[in-house]
Amino acid sequence: MRLSVTGCGYLGAVHAAAMASIGHEVVGIDVDVRKIDALSRGDAPFFEPELPELLRAGVDGGTLRFSTDAAEARGAAVHFIAVGTPQRKDGHAADMTYIDAAVDALLPHLQPGDIVAGKSTVPVGTAARLAELIAPTGAVLVWNPEFLREGWAVVDTISPDRLVVGVPAGPEGERAADVLREVYRPAVERETPFLVSDYATAELVKISANAFLATKISFINAMAEIAEVTGADVTQLADAIGHDARIGRRFLSAGIGFGGGCLPKDIRAFAARAEELGRGESVAFLREVDAINLRRRERAVTLTREALGGDVVGKRVAVLGAAFKPHSDDIRDSPALDVAVRLKGLGADVVVTDPAAVENARRAHPQLAYADARDDALRGAEAVVVVTEWDEYRRELDPAHASSLATGRVVVDGRNCLDADAWRAAGWDYRGLGRP
Ligand code: UDX
Repeated sequence: MRLSVTGCGYLGAVHAAAMASIGHEVVGIDVDVRKIDALSRGDAPFFEPELPELLRAGVDGGTLRFSTDAAEARGAAVHFIAVGTPQRKDGHAADMTYIDAAVDALLPHLQPGDIVAGKSTVPVGTAARLAELIAPTGAVLVWNPEFLREGWAVVDTISPDRLVVGVPAGPEGERAADVLREVYRPAVERETPFLVSDYATAELVKISANAFLATKISFINAMAEIAEVTGADVTQLADAIGHDARIGRRFLSAGIGFGGGCLPKDIRAFAARAEELGRGESVAFLREVDAINLRRRERAVTLTREALGGDVVGKRVAVLGAAFKPHSDDIRDSPALDVAVRLKGLGADVVVTDPAAVENARRAHPQLAYADARDDALRGAEAVVVVTEWDEYRRELDPAHASSLATGRVVVDGRNCLDADAWRAAGWDYRGLGRP
């Protein structure tokens, strides 16, 4: 099928490449000339495993191209909208500027029978509004939320655990759902659940899934706070409650909390939208989820300060990690960088390293010092603070090796990802969040 994808960021670039890889003819459209130039050469503009291979295969094979011209979308059977919905500068609501601009640009090129499929995470009610806007063209709107995780985006797009499509009532909606089934045929044939709903449900599935995940993380981080005043160990607690299949161990890793381009802004936008709808109280707990999450960053800073004798001024601190999570170079709302910035603010001599995100971090926080190699960051450090659980730190950093480089013996495990016993045995003062 011929498909267009408007918006070639984390979501759209992966979607375009993945759709080409399963046999579609795809054009990706974005207003950012540099991004389009890179993608047209088959280069990924950000770090995402497997994406470079897919891009190159699609571009070289002639099934994937990129353009800044919205007119190139003309003739596609399905037009995906995958632009960002960041947090507004003036509050917690989602900024809909890019969605509105994408639809405006597409409108003159839509033909009767075309399908416009929204993928972006939007405030509930957006799809109904956009459906009215495009109705005069004879195109049909569906809402098809995306659940991909950065670092696993290609796998999640090609083999999702479920597909959700919000459609209008009646035969028009049924036909649109069938077209989407055809788009995702390989996954549908593997019996991936394909759930058809109304617009509002589809929009809410996405936002409530993210709200649930954020709540799960803040729940275990709240338990970490209780563990800290009782001498309990939150990692053992998570293992034990996680054995209950109703709870499950995933997303129960306590530490400096969630960040990235989705969970933080999505829970805030959800709370803001609920208030607009007169139902603020229904999700008032999300403000607590947000507050717990932000407190944990400060806790990592406090632990470091305490371990260094109450004062970090002028002390060299190696911060291992900058990305908001491993397998990503994304530093948007990164708890890791927030910890680094706070330590620097207290006067510490901070050196940040990360296997993928140093370049992005340097651009966003030029006031921090950076090391491209992990060992350069460790050299001469009085404290080591692990804030992103890359394998390079979690598995591959031997405490004895760290001892040969660092001058101090303080290690703060902001992700509870290190082997505490091994570090203690090597003579380190190990401190984890929510652990004795
Ligand atoms: C998330 C959702 O998982 C995905 O379904 C949605 O489409 C977009 O938002 P992503 O932002 O890529 O994906 O990251 P995710 O893997 O969910 O992690 C989010 C944050 O939570 C990271 O900062 C991570 O370090 C943190 N986290 C995750 C924890 O602190 N503890 C956990 O147990 C799990």
